[in-house]
Amino acid sequence: PSEARLEDIDQAVLSSLTDQMSALLPTLLPSPDFGEKREKVRASLERTLMKQLPKMIPKGSTLRVFGSSSNGFGNDGADLDMCIEYARGVQHPDDAGALIESIAEKLKAAGMTKVDSRPTARIPIVIFNDGASGLDCDISVMNPLAVRNTRLMKAYSVADPRVKELAYVLKRWAKRRWVNNASEGTLSSYGYLLCLLHFLQTRNPPVVPNLQALPPDWAGEPLHGVPRLPVVMTKQPTDGLDCDTYFYDPLTPGRDGERRAAVLREFGSRNTASSGELLAGFFRYFALELDCRTSVVSVRLGGLADRERKAEACCWSMHTRLSLEDPFETSYDVAHVLKWSRFKHVRMEFARAYALLAGGGGGGDASSLLETI
Ligand code: CTP
Ligand code: MG
Repeated sequence: PSEARLEDIDQAVLSSLTDQMSALLPTLLPSPDFGEKREKVRASLERTLMKQLPKMIPKGSTLRVFGSSSNGFGNDGADLDMCIEYARGVQHPDDAGALIESIAEKLKAAGMTKVDSRPTARIPIVIFNDGASGLDCDISVMNPLAVRNTRLMKAYSVADPRVKELAYVLKRWAKRRWVNNASEGTLSSYGYLLCLLHFLQTRNPPVVPNLQALPPDWAGEPLHGVPRLPVVMTKQPTDGLDCDTYFYDPLTPGRDGERRAAVLREFGSRNTASSGELLAGFFRYFALELDCRTSVVSVRLGGLADRERKAEACCWSMHTRLSLEDPFETSYDVAHVLKWSRFKHVRMEFARAYALLAGGGGGGDASSLLETI
C-alpha cells in the first residue's frame, strides 16, 4: 500500500494530470482580499454580540475564526466558521445551547438571514447568512479543539507544496461529486483533509511527517526505517480540555518557525512523486487498498490504528465503514457521519476517479477526471 508509483497507469496520463492540476490550482485559490474581507465580518459580529449580550458573553472574550477561512485550504465560496472563546480562567457557560439561542435572536435582530440554531448539537451552533458580505457563517461556543486542529491543518498546508495542490483539487472533486455533506451522510471537508494527510504520511518515503510525533528541535532526520519517536506530551493552552495537542509547528513566529518550515520542505522533497501520481494513488488507496474492517485512519499515529483495540479501549463500535480518528480527540470518529449506503457510494466515487485514470488497459484520460472536478 505504501508504493508511490502506479505502474498500471500510463506515465503520460499522470504527467498530463499533473499539468492540468497545476493549471487548475490558481482558479481554486481565494482572491487576495479573502482574509481581509472575512476579518471585517468577524470584527463586526464580535462588536455586535459583545454589545448585545454583555451578561452572557464576558469581557475579554473573542470571536475566533477556524476551519477553511484560516487553515490554508479556503476559497471565496467557503463558509466562515467562528466560535466564541472566553478569556483564560473565565468560567465557561453552563448552558452553551441557551447562549446559542440568545445569539441567534441577536443575529436576527441585526439583520442576518437564514438564521438556524442547533442548541442541542454535540457542539451547539448557529448558522446564518451575512447579507452585507454574502458569506454563509456559523458561530459555536468554546470550541478550542477545532481552533487547534485548524492550526494543525495549516501547519500541514505549508509542509510541502503538494499538500495544498492536492487538498484544493480533492475538495473541488468532493463538492462536484456531491460527496461532501456530513448532514447527508457523506464526509466533511475536514474528513477529506485527514484522509489526504494520512495518505501523504504513509508514502515511501513520506511526503509529510507526523507533526504530532516530532520533538520541537527536530532537524529533519529521516523517520522511515527507525523506530517512531515518542509523542511529546507538551500541554498546549486549550483551556478546559485535558488532551495533548502538541505538534511540531512551522508557523511559530520568527526564526524557529522559518527553520522548521525549511526542514519540513526538505523532508518532503525526498519523495519525488508528482501531484498527478499522488492524486491517482490517493483514489486507489481509498478505493481498493485500505481495509476499513480492521483499521482506523490515524493522522496522530502517522498510520493505522487497530479497530478492535480502539473498540476495546474506548467507545468505538466495530463496523466496516471508514473511520477517521480525530488527531486530538482520539475517542472521536470524524467519519461517524458516514451512513453505510453513502460510504459505499463514496468508495465507488474513489474507484470511479481511479478507473478514469487507469483506463481499463486502454490508456486513461486525465481530462475526463478533471472535467468532473
Ligand atoms: N471540525 C471538527 N470536527 C469535525 C468537523 C469539523 O473539529 N467532525 C472542525 C475543524 O476545525 C474544521 C472546521 O470544523 O476545520 C470546519 O469543518 P469543515 O467545514 O468540514 O471544513 P472546512 O475546512 O471549513 O471546509 P469548507 O471549505 O468546505 O467549509
Ligand atoms: Mg467551513
